[in-house]
Amino acid sequence: MANEPTITTLLKEGRTFKPSAAFAKAAHVGSAKAWEALRKAAAKDPVRFWEARARELRWEKPWSKALDWKFPFAKWFVGGKLNASVNCLDRHLDGPRANKAALIWEGEPGDTRTLTYRQLHREVCVFANALTALGVKAGDRVAVYMPMVPEAAVAMLAIARLGAAHSVVFAGFSSEALRDRILDADARFVVTADGGWRKGAVVPLKAAVDEALAQCPAVQKVVVLRRTGQGVSMKEGRDVWWHDAAAGMPARHRAAAHDAENPLFILYTSGSTGKPKGVLHTTGGYLTHAAYTCRLVFDLKEDDVFWCTADVGWVTGHSYVVYGPLANGATVLMYEGAPMTPGPDRFWEMIARHRVTVFYTAPTAIRAFVRLGAGHPDRHDLSSLRLLGTVGEPINPEAWLWYHKTIGGGRCPIVDTWWQTETGGIMISPLPGATPAKPGSATKPLPGIEAAVVDRQGRPAAKGAGGLLVVRRPWPGMLRTIYGAPERYREQYFSQVPGCYFTGDGARLDADGYFWVLGRVDDVINVAGHRLSTMEIESALVGHPKVAEAAVVGHPDDLKGQGITAFVTLQSGAAAGPDVVDELKGAVAKAIGAIARPDRIRFADALPKTRSGKIMRRLLRDVAAGVESKGDTTTLEDFSALARLRAPQEE
Ligand code: WTA
Repeated sequence: MANEPTITTLLKEGRTFKPSAAFAKAAHVGSAKAWEALRKAAAKDPVRFWEARARELRWEKPWSKALDWKFPFAKWFVGGKLNASVNCLDRHLDGPRANKAALIWEGEPGDTRTLTYRQLHREVCVFANALTALGVKAGDRVAVYMPMVPEAAVAMLAIARLGAAHSVVFAGFSSEALRDRILDADARFVVTADGGWRKGAVVPLKAAVDEALAQCPAVQKVVVLRRTGQGVSMKEGRDVWWHDAAAGMPARHRAAAHDAENPLFILYTSGSTGKPKGVLHTTGGYLTHAAYTCRLVFDLKEDDVFWCTADVGWVTGHSYVVYGPLANGATVLMYEGAPMTPGPDRFWEMIARHRVTVFYTAPTAIRAFVRLGAGHPDRHDLSSLRLLGTVGEPINPEAWLWYHKTIGGGRCPIVDTWWQTETGGIMISPLPGATPAKPGSATKPLPGIEAAVVDRQGRPAAKGAGGLLVVRRPWPGMLRTIYGAPERYREQYFSQVPGCYFTGDGARLDADGYFWVLGRVDDVINVAGHRLSTMEIESALVGHPKVAEAAVVGHPDDLKGQGITAFVTLQSGAAAGPDVVDELKGAVAKAIGAIARPDRIRFADALPKTRSGKIMRRLLRDVAAGVESKGDTTTLEDFSALARLRAPQEE
């Protein structure tokens, strides 16, 4: 990696937006002064600050040591015992929340269900008993490959209740991706559905599970929810319908308390070396962080209807569809399908119908809506909204302003939240009643989070200059390790900047101390808010018999943030052409999922490489973006290869 991120600062945005007096007055943190008091308290004694946040949860046994930090391994609330599922459910049953809606769900075809806290608790207890009967025990890993239906949350909470760890695999991923994740986590149980609805069609999930499990002999049981109703094959002795497994199970379940450091979940995220990383989160610290950030950043109140559009297959769905809101006793809207199905105003129609008050989505979705114009949202009554949020990638000021005006009616603050799968919860974000927003900036680290922009040696970068985004102190929601690969964990996050957690992102600080995140400094491509590994895509391409070599880079894309360009060298004898382009795109989609399908494939007789044989992706990125390469090219082995790539080519 180069000494400094090769990211140039493009966003120069001076406007600020303050929350209205009415919003601030009602907010949990309602003034710059209140924010500063919180920050000061946290800075003075961060561990004590987090202990106070942790005490807002229900603990069956108090911790004896709040933080055990043996660089780079952290343990939080050591000796404490709690149950994540009890904190999200049972805790709310003693008072008026018992009969409040926990989940309001809508399927893509328009079917809806509402589960109160009491009902959700009941479903989780039944399913926890069912899983126990199937053999799931504390310490196991259970893979969850589900559409966005209430049972996805039920499964997560039931697995957590037992002290097992869930590994949710995004249902848009292919059977190969599922297989790799099941094997890496050594999951012995899988929870899935016959299918899910997406863009008016059925995604055949059970069929993908069957394909994956052909190579996962250790899996003992598969629980299958009937959602879409098409025929599926059920393997005798291994596969069981959810409704059969649940039949006759008691609706009471006595939850054991688990260690604060008991694994809660593994979630795979792309790494620059290709092999997905199993990010491991544990119970007490993660839940503390998710609950605290959800309450303050979304300013959650008892009567809010909170809609986070993320799928539970991503970390945003873990922290802000399931654990954060439910730990706060909030009402969550959950939606199964695609944003533009059946029409481009599905989201706005749903916001109006369910009277959504807080709406949290991705910049890529907002940019897609901007393209469609204001006509669609304007036709719906969005007056219930009081707060908007974004996550997943930097939001360009134009999209921010459109969101503010067209969706928020100019009255809703926007929280631009920066965080990662690895951080567990939000790290840098406005507090909506207190922090003036600048479009395109995630503003400041939350109280309790010590983020900084530094150079390779860990020295603060000059104000206004780009640098590496790091976190200087452990925080409760941080990943504990990469599952099964502690050395990779150290190497990936704690070896690049001395003494700090390195996020992999570049950022700059402005004169007001606001953070402007500039994107990844490594090879990972962020397509529509999803991090994809170039190496994974390359290996999918090279797996095709006609391909000799492949290099994949991101190119700027107005809609998705980044698109995927693949440079491919074919085997001798294979001829380039549109058929091969289609074949290769299809091969990637099959190996990884449609999200990873390259937008462009360019054929090359050779790729630019260093003398040691490393492909110079930096140069390819410039070619893909159509800009001149300014950086060092002295290590390039064959200049003509680069020149030939720059020549126009049919796509
Ligand atoms: C990017 C998603 C700018 C960033 C929660 C980060 C952002 C990666 C923002 C994590 C934001 C996320 N502004 N960039 N508000 N939020 N990112 O693991 O590059 O899927 O490192 O977690 O997304 O993506 P992940």
